[in-house]
Amino acid sequence: MVLINLGIGRADSTKKHGERTKRTLDLKNDEANHITLLGKSGYGKTTIMRGMIEEIYSSYSDAGIPPIIIVIERKVDTSKPKKVIEIYHEESEKLSSAQLSRKYGEGIWNYIEHYVNELENDKELKYGLMGDFSIGFPNILGKYTKMESDEYKSLLGRHGLSPAAYPARRFVFRPRRNIKDIAFDNGPLTETVDSKLAYPDIPFEIIADMNNFSETARYSAILKNIWDIQKIREPGEVLNIAASYETFNSGPSQTYLRIEETMNRLRSDSLFSGDSKHSFLKQITNKKINILDFSQNSELDSFEECLIFKLVVQHAINVAIKYRIPVFFVADEVQNFMRDPAGKWAIDKILREGRSLCINLICATQYTDNLPKDVLIGSSHIGIMGKLASNTDTKTLEKLIPDFKDVVDFDEPGSLSEYESLKRKLRFRGYFSYNKDYTEHIEYRQPQSL
Ligand SMILES: Nc1ncnc2c1ncn2[C@@H]1O[C@H](COP(=O)(O)OP(=O)(O)OP(=O)(O)O)[C@@H](O)[C@H]1O
Ligand SMILES: [Mg+2]
Repeated sequence: MVLINLGIGRADSTKKHGERTKRTLDLKNDEANHITLLGKSGYGKTTIMRGMIEEIYSSYSDAGIPPIIIVIERKVDTSKPKKVIEIYHEESEKLSSAQLSRKYGEGIWNYIEHYVNELENDKELKYGLMGDFSIGFPNILGKYTKMESDEYKSLLGRHGLSPAAYPARRFVFRPRRNIKDIAFDNGPLTETVDSKLAYPDIPFEIIADMNNFSETARYSAILKNIWDIQKIREPGEVLNIAASYETFNSGPSQTYLRIEETMNRLRSDSLFSGDSKHSFLKQITNKKINILDFSQNSELDSFEECLIFKLVVQHAINVAIKYRIPVFFVADEVQNFMRDPAGKWAIDKILREGRSLCINLICATQYTDNLPKDVLIGSSHIGIMGKLASNTDTKTLEKLIPDFKDVVDFDEPGSLSEYESLKRKLRFRGYFSYNKDYTEHIEYRQPQSL
């Protein structure tokens, strides 16, 4: 069992002073610990997930079982670099450099200075697209931003934390911009990989899906035989074998041409590589936090994202069986996977097999509406950030969580100005339902990274 810090709850009189409000979550090693986070846009789901990742990374590493953490990132957040620039100028005017080093940490402030300089001299617009999970970048925003309720405490200070960067390996697919620039935007501890699917990693079904194969076609049967049964994963060799099946009367058959077209696509598409050393699956590590960059940085169709996710889940299952290490998938905007058969397969697989293999799913979404019941039913714990996005979601949760109705109460604003202040107050706060059995109010742990 590993304990992670979840945040600050209401005072608990049975505990020692100091410990009275601290909330931890037990993560079990022989059970699944699936968590779903819900909440309206902008109330902090992504931010809080980052905090959870940091907890999991450090607590498991301290316990001597570094887990594999695989984050599926969906968006870049252009407001973060803008805020970094604003904070830099405002703070530089107010505080001396000694004070700044003391407040943010010397190395960190020097880095911020360097980052801001580069961004302000960036004529070619290379930078400024920071990922939702720029876990390699220290969270100076959380150190700078004061609590709504206590102007002497910062968001991070409230939790006894300071800005820090965590090591990340970011996998970009068919990169839309220079991968060095992507790394720079995501902080000094981020490494970026131009990620390829190596031929040996790609099962026939993926090739068939990507090329719209018809299941009953002859080319499909032939290629499946060569690729999956004979295990020939080299396009030239595949074509030689396919040619040997030909009866050359009047030029190549439609079957051969279709196989040739498919092999040519593998050879020319930068997403694929013949060299198994380039396999991105082999570079998934438990030394760093793995980020699958499905934001605008990668030029992928959504069905390709789902196929890659499916491959990664299959890979993780193999690794979990072989090495017995815990795996955590962190899927933001999880509803995106549900519309696609491969994506749905992957989520279902984690939900079902996770229990025996210690493969965990931490996911977030705005609405429960388009979320299959399986995800909520399969989740051990449910967190709410800010407030729910619709009344039907409230109804769904009332059915699922026995004490929900008694505990959860969302304040309704009486005026527009009240609404604005309520919105600020509710950010990063909400409810947490432990095992869908006990629900309470919580201020979630802030992330140290941005
Ligand atoms: N430490 C911080 N201090 C202040 N603001 C922050 C901090 N960290 C993140 N933010 C900002 O808070 C906003 C909301 O956070 P977040 O992106 O986590 O919300 P979300 O629930 O994931 O929203 P969505 O559903 O739109 O993705 C973001 O604009 C982010 O830049
Ligand atoms: Mg988000």
